[in-house]
Amino acid sequence: MSELSGTLQYFKGLEGVAVTESSISYVDGVRGKLLYRGFDVEDLVEHSTFEEVAYLLWYGHLPSEGELCELREKLMKFRKLPEEYLKILKTFPLDVHPMDFLRASVSLLGLFSTPDECGENTRMDCAIRLTAQLPMLVTIFHRRRMGKELNLDVSEKLGHAANFLYMLRGKPPESMEETIMDKALILHAEQEMNASTFAAVVTASTLSDMYSAVTSAIGTLKGPIHGGANEKVVEMLEEIGDPEEAEGYVERCLAEGRRIMGFGHRIYKTYDPRARILKKWAETLVNIRGGRAKRHFEIAMKLEKAVTERLGNKGIYPNVDFYSGIVYECLGIPKDLFTTIFAVARVVGWTAHVIEYNETNRIFRPRAIYKGPMNLNYKIEKSKR
Ligand code: CMC
Repeated sequence: MSELSGTLQYFKGLEGVAVTESSISYVDGVRGKLLYRGFDVEDLVEHSTFEEVAYLLWYGHLPSEGELCELREKLMKFRKLPEEYLKILKTFPLDVHPMDFLRASVSLLGLFSTPDECGENTRMDCAIRLTAQLPMLVTIFHRRRMGKELNLDVSEKLGHAANFLYMLRGKPPESMEETIMDKALILHAEQEMNASTFAAVVTASTLSDMYSAVTSAIGTLKGPIHGGANEKVVEMLEEIGDPEEAEGYVERCLAEGRRIMGFGHRIYKTYDPRARILKKWAETLVNIRGGRAKRHFEIAMKLEKAVTERLGNKGIYPNVDFYSGIVYECLGIPKDLFTTIFAVARVVGWTAHVIEYNETNRIFRPRAIYKGPMNLNYKIEKSKR
């Protein structure tokens, strides 16, 4: 036994371990509540805009008219990407997953950022800059791979969410589409110390830069049991194919010990409040738009019933990723872009936490409980080979 195993406590996946103090968001996993800076996210979705919520998350208070105006101007200004950068970006392959493209392109963008733009004294501007840039990168990737014209001259009249949809699809969004994208971005903007935020904060705790922190976070978000789940949910709905098959699918998954995507959460042991809101929009949208998404919604409803009947007693309910994909499908967004939309929103939470953590920074340096051999003799072991 190593001397450490007796003194160290080990919590797999850091369950139940707090790694910092924070005043950015609060998750009540028992009552199914999420607060951003003290405000119920349901209230913010109802009354606020993404820009206003981003301001709130970064600065800790709701913006005045002037402060909001200044933020909007910065978001507009910071969308412009350096010409040299765009030239290199053109050489990136397009037959890759959009999250891989996004991760690599944010990392590359770090090479072009100067200390004036993203130094120790300009970290808030750097957070705003990255928030402005991420939708551009997703758009550039998607329009190029579709062989479509790239319109990077964004409209000053449109908000952040509307501009994103406009650039991505090449036509101005309808008012309902704009509203729904705006609300979806609010819902995905922040969620306490989730895996990708933790990754960002761990990177930042070494006093590394914001581009490195966000690159780490994007790579972490991509995983199918984190942000990548929204794409996997729609793949699963396609595989099930028929609402009548949903129950059998759940039985098979449970028998084979497989996870049902879009269900379960480390903190929420009840219905995820974000899933409840997204379900309502999904239902409204599929009834208007019909098509494949309507079929997916019908399957999802049956799946939800079967999973909650079987696993509700374990606290397993739909999470944020279960209905979001159906909402995006109704907006005409291909499923491999779903996780990039998550990143476009969550960059606010990542950067807010990085800034907050750095204020009282201490490098993350946990331990591992050593389980390997000790005191091996090199010559003896080598002679056995
Ligand atoms: N389907 C079936 N069983 C499940 C599921 C699921 N989706 N999620 C958890 N369980 C079971 C699990 O088998 C375990 O059972 P037992 O105690 O009998 O071994 C129990 O619930 C606890 O699971 P866990 O793996 O210890 O839970 P965790 O907190 O480590 O994992 C999770 C949380 C989200 C990774 C997991 O629920 C999961 O893999 N869900 C499916 C993927 C998914 O939808 N991810 C999106 C998460 S929400 C948004 C985000 O973070 O991006």
